[in-house]
This record gives sequence, C-alpha cells and structure tokens, in this order.
Amino acid sequence: MKSFYITTAIDYVNGQPHLGHAYEKVLTDVIARFRRQMGDKVYFLTGSDEHGQKVQASARKEGIPPQQYVDKIAAQFRSLYDRLNISYDDFIRTTEARHKDGVRAILQKLFDQGEIYQAEYRGFYSTRQEQFLQEKDRLPDGSWPEIFGEVTEIVEKNYFFRLRKYQDWLIDHLRTHEDFIFPRYRHKQVLEFLKEPLNDLCISRPKERLEWGIPLPFDENYVTYVWFDALLNYYTAVADKGLWPADFNVIGKDILVPPHAVYWPIMLHASGLPPPKALLVHGWWLQSGAKMSKSTGEAVSPLALVDQFGVDAFRYFLIREMNVGQDSEFTVEQFMVRYNSELANNLGNLVNRTLNMTTRFSGGVLPAAEVVEDPERELHELWTKTRDEIVPLCEGFQFHTALERGMAFVTATNAYIEKRAPWKLGKSADPKDQSLLRTSLATMAESLRLAVALMQHVTPATTAKINEVLGYTPGNVWRDELVWGAKLNGAKVAPALVLFPRPEKPGAKLA
Ligand code: MSP
Repeated sequence: MKSFYITTAIDYVNGQPHLGHAYEKVLTDVIARFRRQMGDKVYFLTGSDEHGQKVQASARKEGIPPQQYVDKIAAQFRSLYDRLNISYDDFIRTTEARHKDGVRAILQKLFDQGEIYQAEYRGFYSTRQEQFLQEKDRLPDGSWPEIFGEVTEIVEKNYFFRLRKYQDWLIDHLRTHEDFIFPRYRHKQVLEFLKEPLNDLCISRPKERLEWGIPLPFDENYVTYVWFDALLNYYTAVADKGLWPADFNVIGKDILVPPHAVYWPIMLHASGLPPPKALLVHGWWLQSGAKMSKSTGEAVSPLALVDQFGVDAFRYFLIREMNVGQDSEFTVEQFMVRYNSELANNLGNLVNRTLNMTTRFSGGVLPAAEVVEDPERELHELWTKTRDEIVPLCEGFQFHTALERGMAFVTATNAYIEKRAPWKLGKSADPKDQSLLRTSLATMAESLRLAVALMQHVTPATTAKINEVLGYTPGNVWRDELVWGAKLNGAKVAPALVLFPRPEKPGAKLA
C-alpha cells in the first residue's frame, strides 16, 4: 500500500470559522477520500494555529486568558469539521505539548548548528497595531497612516534565521522539481519573489511585546514568531510516525509566498529534513456582490446552508463550483441553481424514479437486464467513456469537471428513462415489453449505482444512503465498483427516499 500524507493549513483561531476555512478542509477531504478509494494508505492532518499577536489580542478583547480563549474557538472549528464529514486522522493544536516540544527541539538544533543568530533590529513600530512597519506603509507625504497610532523608531535585539544562505538552494530546488507547486504557474510567482535577495527571517518576539507563543529554548525572554511555530505542525504531528515528507500541503494562495514556498522548505532543509513533495494552492471564495440575500435583504452565512440543505449539498457545491487554484464568487443564487438543477431535479429525480418504479412494477426487487438495444448500448458506452475520464481528472485535482461528467451521465440516464418509458411498458402484457421493462429498471438502477460511486469522495453520506436504499453493499475495491455489471440483480429497494428536499420557501431566511 502506498502511503499518502496530506495536510491542510491550520486555521487562526482568532475568530469564527468561515467559508474559506471550510472549503479548504472539504477540498483536502475530497482528495484524501479519493486517494483512499484508489487504495492508498492515507494520513490526513488538520488543526489550529493558536499562538501569536492576533490570538492574544482577541482573547484580551473578550477578557479571558488566551488558553481558555483558544480552547473555546478551536473546539468550534473542530466541530464544524466533524459536521462537514472531514475524515481527518489527526487534529493538531499548536498549544499542545507534542507540538511545542517538537518546535523547541528544532529551534535548539538550528541554534546549535549556527543557523540562528542574534542581532539588532531597528525599525518603526506601531504600538496600536503591535507590528513593525515598512517604508511602503508610509503615506505619500512621508507620515504614517492614522490606523497605526503613535509610531516610534525602536531598536531591539532579536533572533534571526539564516534564510538568505539557502536562497540558491531553493531556486535550484524549484527548478529541478517542476511539480513542487500545483498549479504550476505559481512556480513563476515564487521564482519572481526569489529574484530579490532574501532577508534573514526574524523568528523571535520579545516577551514584553508578545507573551502568547512558544518560548525560545535558548532564550526564555523571547517567544517564537508565529509562522516559524505554525509551519512546523506538519512535521511535529507525524515526527514519530515516519510519515515525513508530506505528499501535499494544501494551502490558500495568500500563504504561499513567502511562508510556504520560501520559509518552509528552507526551515526543513536547514534542519536536515526534506521539503514536502508538493504544495497544492487553492484560490479564494469571494463574496463581494452577494453578502446579502436578495429576496430578504438579510445577511446570509454560507455555513448556514449546511443546516438548511445538508452537508453533502454544501460539499457538492463547493467542489462543483470551484476550479482548484482559481477564485470563485460565492452567491446563494448560484448555490440554489446547482442544488435545484443538479441535485434535486437530476440526481434526486433519478433516485425517486428508480425506487418508485421498482416498487410499482417489480415488487421492490430489482430484476436482471435482459436485452441490449440502442438505448442501453448508448448508455453503456457513455459510462465507459465517463469512467475512463474520471480517474485522471481527479488525479489532476479537476474535481469540478469530474462532477460535471458524473452529472452528465445522470442526465443521460434520465433521458434513457424517458426513452424507455417504463410506465408505458408496465401497462403492456406483451412479453417483449415486459422484458424491456425489466431491462429498463435494471439499467436505471445500475446507472444510479455507478453515478453515486463516482461521487463518493465528494458526497460520501449521500452515496452511502443511496446504496442503502438500493439494497446494496459496495465492495472494498473502488475501481471494481466502477464496472458496469449485475451487482444489483435481486436487490430489494426501499420504497422512497427524500434526498434533496425543496426549501420551504426558496430564498427564505438562511441565517
Ligand atoms: N494560520 C495560518 C496558516 C498557517 S499554516 C501552517 C492562516 N490561517 S487562516 O485562518 O487565516 O487561513 C487558513 C486557510 O484558509 C488558509 O489556507 C487560507 O488561504 C484559507 N482561506 C481563508 N480565507 C479564504 C477564502 N476566502 N477562500 C478560500 N480560502 C481562504 O493563514
């Protein structure tokens, strides 16, 4: 069994989870489930990023200790991911001892090797924002924007990690590993960034300024810069499992350069560890025009759609709509279009027809197919073509296209049913018609079984439910499930299943 180690970014727990966080975990889950179906031994890590200025500030605002604050928020993130059916193997929190110990061990090693040194840091500092400013932050007249409050020039001793020393190594690594970043065009962005000489990375924050962090093992007056701490989660979580390097670190485009494409591989290389095999970089969900539901004028939270329409409808929409790597506009209207036309009217309709007609014309027991004429032949051929396309599409993260092909097959099956019109065949006593009736029932059910097998990594609960009402227990080898056959012969189906109910009032209050 090939092992496959995949991670998500770990979310800042300084606020509520939102669509962007949810999407990344769903996408990674879809990849993890797909690899499991392909027979890989998958290890899937997610977690939360709990140190740093932002978290400290949010805890202060609530007037509670940071640990209490992160315990509360991390639990909310985790319960959302459980609700979304994210099949993670481990959820790492950067405040856990196993992580802190791992980070301190690496820091000590780098310090002993001379990769970390102390130096004076001079710069303009905004106390209100608690951050160092850069020349580019100045207004055209040279003053600092209002939001920074009082700005003072300070000189501070800090610890620096020798990033520049490894710049050429990184450039070379990128040039010799064309698959290091998906989508490939993002390589260019990184190489562009590396055209300028790198500054060494300031990896410490004096405790007077920031307390909420991992103390440096070689100088307890400082805590670790949050990115240096957070990135290491991918390694500390599995250090004792022999799983490093990861096959994929899945991240959003905002955290590629410099943290994941520059700091991270260099931190690992300097520590004597290999970089991740690849970074998978997704785009953003944008919500500019449509934060408000048109019909009611009330704010719509995308996550509220989970409660109203179910987890799988939500997962389906995110994966169907987003071309991995690009951005997508989120609108409730578009969600409703896909929900109604693809899930309810297309797939839901096929489920209903299959169950109803099998119940009505065959006592709820699926017959065997008896004839293969043009309508059946066309459907078989479309199936073979669809199936052969799916695996390479999913391997290349083109899940949206794979779902589109799957849905086209469902559409073709519904058209097949129209053509065969079993409701007419059922009225005829002619043996030929009866044989065609049995054939059409078997064919639509088999098509349905195959279509939902294709969608299993995206809509696992729905696939399981449909298999159940078809009286079918799938085997362990997913690829074998994709062979058109007679697996449902004699299966006893349920009389009905409401899968994708109509909202009581379309566009009704969602929040
Ligand atoms: N804590 C850091 C990551 C550390 S990884 C060692 C962080 N956290 S975050 O909460 O701000 O973002 C977590 C992930 O969510 C990132 O990969 C980010 O790109 C993703 N998203 C946040 N908003 C997003 C959208 N609107 N759309 C899609 N994903 C985006 O960064």
